Order: sequence, then structure tokens, then C-alpha cells
Amino acid sequence: MTLILQRRIIISVLAIQERKIKVKVLGVSGSPIKNSNTDRALKAVLDATGCETECVKLMDYTIEPCRACLGCVKTNTCVIKDDGIALTEKAKAADALVIAGFTPYSTIDSRTKAFIERLYPLRHTHGFMAGKPGGVVITFAAPEENDMLPPAGQMGINAVQFYMMEEGMNFVGAVKIQGNVPCVKCVYGDECKMSGIPMLYGPDATVDSVGIKSFEEQPVAVEAARELGHKIAEALGTANKAIDSHEK
Ligand SMILES: Cc1cc2nc3c(=O)[nH]c(=O)nc-3n(C[C@H](O)[C@H](O)[C@H](O)COP(=O)(O)O)c2cc1C
Repeated sequence: MTLILQRRIIISVLAIQERKIKVKVLGVSGSPIKNSNTDRALKAVLDATGCETECVKLMDYTIEPCRACLGCVKTNTCVIKDDGIALTEKAKAADALVIAGFTPYSTIDSRTKAFIERLYPLRHTHGFMAGKPGGVVITFAAPEENDMLPPAGQMGINAVQFYMMEEGMNFVGAVKIQGNVPCVKCVYGDECKMSGIPMLYGPDATVDSVGIKSFEEQPVAVEAARELGHKIAEALGTANKAIDSHEK
């Protein structure tokens, strides 16, 4: 890390601690489902920070993946003229970032991945994201206790955590939510030969036996969301404010 970068991080942490600047936490959800488990868990994390927050749903924006053209190296701005530019500016302006996604085919969803790639302009020579606290929320269907299945949840977490590590961010934690295999909602879940229900839950599992999973009914996930919010507040130096506002 360069001396200039170190100085910039120290100055911003001191400014936050002295409450001289308003702290803002940005949450970004790649889930296309309206008010999904992913969205609700992300909002729980943001609420628990006690800070000013903004929640963005990538489905509402058009964002191409990175073209790897390096056109952003000198300008710190992407050459692709879509919503990615404004979203990148939001990330640059935020003091902390929480990225939330789900795991189609056992890895991070493509909207979330495109968003992460489009943060690349913030890297060159300045490291605009370096030192900022970051966290991840991941919804996945494959039960973790079945080690015959691909580790979808962990793959999703890795995709976000490794981005944050590579940009020098302060990764503070993850929230895992057991989500719904689409086959519980598609109507053909008990008769389709490609149903994911027996694959994920065993040969005797049915739509009814699996049921609909919701974030609010998962105490471990709810607690993890609260904890992640508090950790972000702590890393921003606003912990007391966060805990006070949470308890009010
Ligand atoms: C096209 C598609 C493929 C999916 N593949 C997987 C998968 O391979 N592994 C997995 O854990 N979940 C998979 N899922 C389920 C999602 O990760 C996730 O649980 C769900 O879409 C989130 O919805 P929810 O908020 O309603 O729970 C898939 C979902 C879709 C739409």
C-alpha cells in the first residue's frame, strides 16, 4: 500500500470518528425477485448499521460486464455508457459497501458479478474502495450439510469476498440464507424429471415437505445480519450510534 493511500485511509477514518462527515452505507442486491429473501436480508444488515443507507436493486438498472479494455485506467471512469457509471459513483461516494446476491448454477448471479466488475475503474492509482468496510449477503438453495452438492453459498461468498480483498477493502463478514429452489414454486416440482427437489433434499422430498424458505424464519441468518450491520458500524467508528438506533 502506498503512503498516499495509507494517509487517505487514516484521514477518512479519523474524520468519520469525529463525525465530521456523514457516513453512508450502500447496499446492492443482484436478486431479480421482488422483495426477495436476499433483499430483505440486505435491508436487515443496512438497518443494523444505524447509519444513513441506500439500497440499490440491480434489476432496475442496465449494467454490462467489464470489457477489459483498460479504458478506465487514466480516467477512473468506464467507457461503457450505461447505468454502471452512476452505480460505480455511488460505491465511490459510500463509506461502506454490502453486496447481496444469489447463486444460479452454484456461483454468484450475473448481475452482481457485472456490478463487481464495473467497480474496476475505482482501482487505478487511487484505490478508491481501499480501507472501506464491506460485507456480503448470499441466498442459495443447496443445503450446506449435503457435501455431495456444489458449495453454492460458499462460492457466492468467495466471489464477493475476493473482490473486496483484491481491492484492499476491510471485509467484515457474511450472511448466508437458505433460499428456495425454483422448483418449489414452478408448479411441476413433484412431477418434472429435472426437478431440483429430490436432487437437493433426497428422493422422498416433495414440494410440500420442503416448503417455502424465508429469511425471517432463519434465526441464525437474522442474527448474522444484525451482527454484520454492527460490525460495519464498528469499523466505521459509529458503533454506539448503530446499537442505540437498533435498540430504540
Ligand atoms: C436459474 C436458477 C438456477 C439456480 N441454481 C442454483 C444452484 O445451482 N445452487 C443453488 O444453491 N441455488 C440455485 N438456485 C436458487 C437460488 O440460489 C436462490 O436460492 C433463489 O433463487 C433465491 O430465491 P429466494 O429469494 O426466493 O429464496 C437457482 C435459481 C435459479 C433461478
